[in-house]
Amino acid sequence: MPAQSNDIHFPKGFLWGTATAAHQIEGGNTNNNWWLFEKKGKIKNNDSALIACDHWNRYKQDFDLLKKLNCNAYRMSIEWSRVFPQPGTLDKKALDHYVTMIDELLKRKVTPFVTLFHFTLPIWWCNEGGLLNRDREHLEHFSQFCRVLATTFKGKVKYWNTINEPSIVMLGYLTDMFAPGEKNIAKAIKALGTVMLMHAIAYHTIKSVDPYAKVGIVHNVQIPMPYNPKSIMDNLLAKFVDYLFNGAIIRALQSGKLPFQIFSRHNELVNSNDFIGLNFYNFIRVSLKLKDLATSATDNPLCGTDKLCAGLGWEPYPEGFYLAIKRMHHAFPNLPMYITENGIGTDNDAWRQNVLIDHLKMMHKALQEGIDIKGYFYWSLIDNFEWAQGYMSRFGLVAVDFKTQKRTIKPSGKLYAQIAKANAISSSILKKFPQDIYRPIV
Ligand code: BGC
Repeated sequence: MPAQSNDIHFPKGFLWGTATAAHQIEGGNTNNNWWLFEKKGKIKNNDSALIACDHWNRYKQDFDLLKKLNCNAYRMSIEWSRVFPQPGTLDKKALDHYVTMIDELLKRKVTPFVTLFHFTLPIWWCNEGGLLNRDREHLEHFSQFCRVLATTFKGKVKYWNTINEPSIVMLGYLTDMFAPGEKNIAKAIKALGTVMLMHAIAYHTIKSVDPYAKVGIVHNVQIPMPYNPKSIMDNLLAKFVDYLFNGAIIRALQSGKLPFQIFSRHNELVNSNDFIGLNFYNFIRVSLKLKDLATSATDNPLCGTDKLCAGLGWEPYPEGFYLAIKRMHHAFPNLPMYITENGIGTDNDAWRQNVLIDHLKMMHKALQEGIDIKGYFYWSLIDNFEWAQGYMSRFGLVAVDFKTQKRTIKPSGKLYAQIAKANAISSSILKKFPQDIYRPIV
């Protein structure tokens, strides 16, 4: 059917994808830091990623689902601890398995985006100090991984994401809800700095092998608001958290100065992105009261019966998504942008559909203002292992029955398929999902 004039259209060639990460779907990843974290009993309900979605064996079926969703792009990660189970020892069989996976995507005319570090690190590398060790030989292991992948996939994979969400990696050193689960701000800042250096390493390693590759970091923009807007302390804390979670990362990429570093400069960080990957999820508030620190908005009156909250207690914030896009564009005005993750963890799929449309409208608003967004990846293709939350929170457009591994496309998946196929949101869809205002844009 030809698109109607009051439909919302997206630019020609726009990429419609979904995103996943190896540890969350593959199963069998027992050689990384998240496996250690799981062994420490840190996962809700004692859930395990041992089988997860068994994607390692079922990837063809999952890529067929991707096609059913009419996606022309897919973001996945390659597990470092599989490719290098021991320092310097390449597992050729594991690498070949990934080659087959990429080939299967290309066969389906799906453009792969590959993430090099999506929260999991090999145990052997962690035993050598992990993110707290910045010795050259230690970081060289990561460049070796990047070099092997860039060489293997040259001509097949054009788009690379270096690091997924440096700020969330840092969270593992601020709370025990994320691996390695330490609570030490000095270590957190050091780990954040190391991750930024690893971004630069990945960028330059890949470009030296394949100058035509497009490489970019993935930053998760959070917009911290004061829990009590009248509290000076909460306001100051919101500013500090904003710096820690956004400002320090953006500044490092602009100036080469690592978080909280004043004098020394890492020039390799400057101009180390061909594009910006932006993840956006929810509204957050911060408070000096420890129990409210970085709270989700479950106690928010707006988040009541008429405005449901996501499974994790996260309040959707489509207006914040627009602000996040603007902020990253402002910081890197010459770089194209991909929305590398956006989604909602909920069992209420009607709600997912609503929230999806609300976010896409905001992305469209940014596009209309001339921001060069080239693609959108929904998080996630299938329900999966949601880190410390285990299987409690379901983000998929496709449901997974974890007892039988049966996959079923959700109504939201069908809706996404319609949009991706038309490269537009039709007026009938728009009528069905009238604009929701969560929080006015200020
Ligand atoms: C991460 C995903 C995660 C999602 C939902 C993002 O921060 O990149 O791995 O599943 O949030 O929590």
